Amino acid sequence: MPNELNVPRRGPNELNVPRRVLLGPGPSEVGPRVLRAMSTPLVGHLDPSFVALMEEVKELLRQTFRTANRLTFPLSATGSAGMEAVLVNLLEPGDHAVICVNGVFGGRMVEIARRAGAEVTSVEVPWGEVIDADLLRKTLEALPASTPLRLVACVHAETSTGARQPLEDLSRVAHERGALFVVDAVTSLGGTPVEVDAWGIDASYSGTQKCLSCPPGLSPVTFGEAALARVRERKHKVQSWYLDVSLLEQYWGTDRVYHHTAPISMVYALHEALRVVHEEGLEARFARHVRHHRALVAGLDALGMKMPVAPEYRLPMLNSVFVPGGVDEATVRKRMLERHGIEIGAGLGPWKGQVWRIGLMGDSSTPANVLLVLAALAESLGSSAGGAALGAAERVLAAA
Ligand SMILES: Cc1ncc(COP(=O)(O)O)c(C=O)c1O
Repeated sequence: MPNELNVPRRGPNELNVPRRVLLGPGPSEVGPRVLRAMSTPLVGHLDPSFVALMEEVKELLRQTFRTANRLTFPLSATGSAGMEAVLVNLLEPGDHAVICVNGVFGGRMVEIARRAGAEVTSVEVPWGEVIDADLLRKTLEALPASTPLRLVACVHAETSTGARQPLEDLSRVAHERGALFVVDAVTSLGGTPVEVDAWGIDASYSGTQKCLSCPPGLSPVTFGEAALARVRERKHKVQSWYLDVSLLEQYWGTDRVYHHTAPISMVYALHEALRVVHEEGLEARFARHVRHHRALVAGLDALGMKMPVAPEYRLPMLNSVFVPGGVDEATVRKRMLERHGIEIGAGLGPWKGQVWRIGLMGDSSTPANVLLVLAALAESLGSSAGGAALGAAERVLAAA
């Protein structure tokens, strides 16, 4: 019976949400340790015990980003806030930014950079492809020498396509021109190497709900010294008070000046999620993502399904696959959800209706989920190749 607010009545503590297997573009599955951590009783956000926990989270994040950057912490908002924080702190009106675009999230960076008052040159390649360092070099060479180029930005793991952008050469080209190098690591962090220091990344941001297998709500960010020097040289205040890193630095740094009330339970969750990541070990975790990606690809191949991204650039945690001709993608996705309890993602933008996106991120990347999604896809498509798909995936899993 609906009540006067038109909200269905529930029993105490009952949300009545269905159980799902989360194999879409995020959120990924969250394990019981992290869920338990979230129900830990609260302390105040300036309590000495919480301050100690914040230090541990910062250190665990440094290890995850593979950086010694002092200013590495989780922003109290989702990945989009990480994107916004990095761009609005490093850019101000009159600055120029070069942004690589090969999917939705590169396009979103362009929009944010423009709103921050920067002039933007975008380096665009078709969806599913990656940006070559020579193309970036030519783009930078075409800019007049007087251009106040502040940064070059790109998306490491383009979740809208499943393409993995190689970073080292882009970083070199950006630095040759004196620009900062900014990387979106929302989908890659914890699932494939993100070498902030070794690859010369000046600022990066991520999200908790992908390969870290924590609920959405925080955005780990890291700023190197060159990026912070740029912030200190700004002529104008950062337009966003909430995302101004000079203020956030005083809260997450040693001063502990009140800025906002940290989402305590989310910080508990991230702390536990990062402990899980490092107990497994980053290298073992990366290898697990690759192993299960290969098994999934073998199964999709046996189902006769094709993938839009070239094998060498495929992400291990996000697999785009073409919807077979004559199939209504929404009907199949609905059947996957309602009959099999599995969430997979639809295509975005120009790929709407053309692809599905199957995520094997963090805790969702398991042999059981690979087999489950293949079996459910075969059934939902009415394919007779389900057995062959499971066999192909099993062979990869057995060989690994
Ligand atoms: C590559 C990338 N960047 C940014 C975002 C935005 O993150 P959020 O949805 O957590 O705000 C996403 C989310 O899917 C993403 O995949």
